[in-house]
Amino acid sequence: MIFFIFASLVTVFTAHWVIAFTSNACPNRAKFTAGTKDYIHSIRWTNKYLSRKLEPHIFASRDFRDGTSAMDFERRRATLGRVPIISRTIPIGINVSAEPKENCTKKTLNVTIWEMERPSEIIQTWWSVEESERSVMGDPFGVVMWPGSILASKELMKHHYCSRQSQIENATVLVLGAGTGVEAQTAGLLGARKVIATDINQMALGLLKYAIDNHGDSNYSMSSIVECRYFDVYSDQKLPHCDILVAADVLYNSDLAKRIGLRVHELVSYALSENGAHSGIIITDSQKFHGTDFLLELKELRELNELLLKSGLDQLQWEDRKLQNVVGSGVLLDGDLVYDADVRLLSWGWTTKTR
Ligand SMILES: *[C@@H]1O[C@H](CO)[C@@H](O)[C@H](O)[C@H]1NC(C)=O
Ligand SMILES: *[C@@H]1O[C@H](CO)[C@@H](O)[C@H](O)[C@H]1NC(C)=O
Ligand SMILES: *[C@@H]1O[C@H](CO)[C@@H](O)[C@H](O)[C@H]1NC(C)=O
Ligand SMILES: *[C@@H]1O[C@H](CO)[C@@H](O)[C@H](O)[C@H]1NC(C)=O
Ligand SMILES: *[C@@H]1O[C@H](CO)[C@@H](O)[C@H](O)[C@H]1NC(C)=O
Repeated sequence: MIFFIFASLVTVFTAHWVIAFTSNACPNRAKFTAGTKDYIHSIRWTNKYLSRKLEPHIFASRDFRDGTSAMDFERRRATLGRVPIISRTIPIGINVSAEPKENCTKKTLNVTIWEMERPSEIIQTWWSVEESERSVMGDPFGVVMWPGSILASKELMKHHYCSRQSQIENATVLVLGAGTGVEAQTAGLLGARKVIATDINQMALGLLKYAIDNHGDSNYSMSSIVECRYFDVYSDQKLPHCDILVAADVLYNSDLAKRIGLRVHELVSYALSENGAHSGIIITDSQKFHGTDFLLELKELRELNELLLKSGLDQLQWEDRKLQNVVGSGVLLDGDLVYDADVRLLSWGWTTKTR
C-alpha cells in the first residue's frame, strides 16, 4: 500500500519544518487534542482513496460546469517563511437554471488561495515526529484545498444570489477550520460585513493570511473584512458571535466530528433562544469517514431535531451532492488531480427558503 511506502520515505528535515510552520501569522500555539490514531486512519484512507482516483484523471484538463477550467489559471509561486507555496484560482459557479428563483442569474466567482507547494512533505514530517512535537505542529490537513470548501462556497452563493434578499450581505460569518480560505474569501466577496476565519494549524493560518493580504482586486479590501484567528473547537471558549457558521471538510475523525456537532448544537440552541434570530449553518464533508456523522453520533442533536420537528422548524439533515471535475492536489500527492467528489451538505437556518 502506498501509505507504507510514504511512511518509509520519511525525511529528516523535521526540525526546520516544525520551526517554519509554527512561527507564522497568528500568535497562539496550536493545541492538538484529537487522537493521533484517528489521523493515521484518515491519512491511510485518503491515500487509498486518491490512489484509486489517480489513474484516469491525473493531469486531465476538463472544464467546470460553468465553462471555466480551473486548469487555465496561472499559478504563482512564493515562499512563506521558508516554505514554498503556490497559488490556485478556483472558479466557483452556481447553475442557476437548477434554482427556481426568477432573479437568480448566472454567477461565477474566482477565488485565489495559496497552498503548500509540496503538501506531502508536511504530512510525512508530521508522521515522522514524536507525538509531543505533533501537538506543536497541529492538524496538518488544512494546507491544501478540499472539495467541501467549493460546495460550501456554492451554498453561500446560492443564499446570496438566489434569495429574495441576500443572506450573506452584511452578515458576520464564522468559518471553523478555514484552511486555505476558499469559503472565507467567498463570503467576503459576497459582501459579508465580517468574516472570522479560524483554524488551529499555524501553516494554514499563514496561507490564509497570505491570500487575504495579497488579494488582487485593489477595489476590494479583503484584509479589512476577513480576520484570521486561532480558535480551537475543543476549547471551552464560546463560539465567536456570528450570523452564519461554515465548517467545510473538517470531519476527519469521529472525535473532531462530535466536537463540530456540539458547536452546531451551541449555535442552534442560541438561535432558538434568541427567538428565531438569523443563524445560517453550512457544513460539508467530502470524506465521509466512518463514525463522523455527528447527527447520528450525538444524542444532543437527535434531541434537538425532535424539538425542531415539534416546533415545525427545519431539521438538521444531510443532503448528498456531487461536484464534478474538481481540480486539486491531495495531501500525499503533490500533482494536481481532476476528480468528481460526492459531498454531503448540511444547510440550515436560512430565513428565506430558496428551494
Ligand atoms: C443546470 O440545471 C438544469 C436544471 O436542473 C439542468 O437541466 C442542467 O443540465 C444543469 N446544467 C449543468 C451544466 O449542469
Ligand atoms: C474568472 O476568470 C476567468 C478567466 O480569467 C474570466 O474569464 C472570468 O471572467 C472570471 N470571472 C469573474 C467573475 O471574474
Ligand atoms: C426580481 O427583481 C425585480 C426587479 O429587480 C423585482 O421587481 C422582483 O420582485 C424580483 N423577484 C423576486 C422573486 O425576487
Ligand atoms: C446591507 O447594509 C447596507 C448599508 O446599511 C444596506 O443598504 C443594505 O440594504 C444591506 N443589505 C442587506 C441585504 O441587508
Ligand atoms: C476599480 O474601480 C475602478 C473605478 O470603478 C475601475 O476603473 C477599475 O478597473 C477597478 N479595478 C479593478 C482591479 O477592478
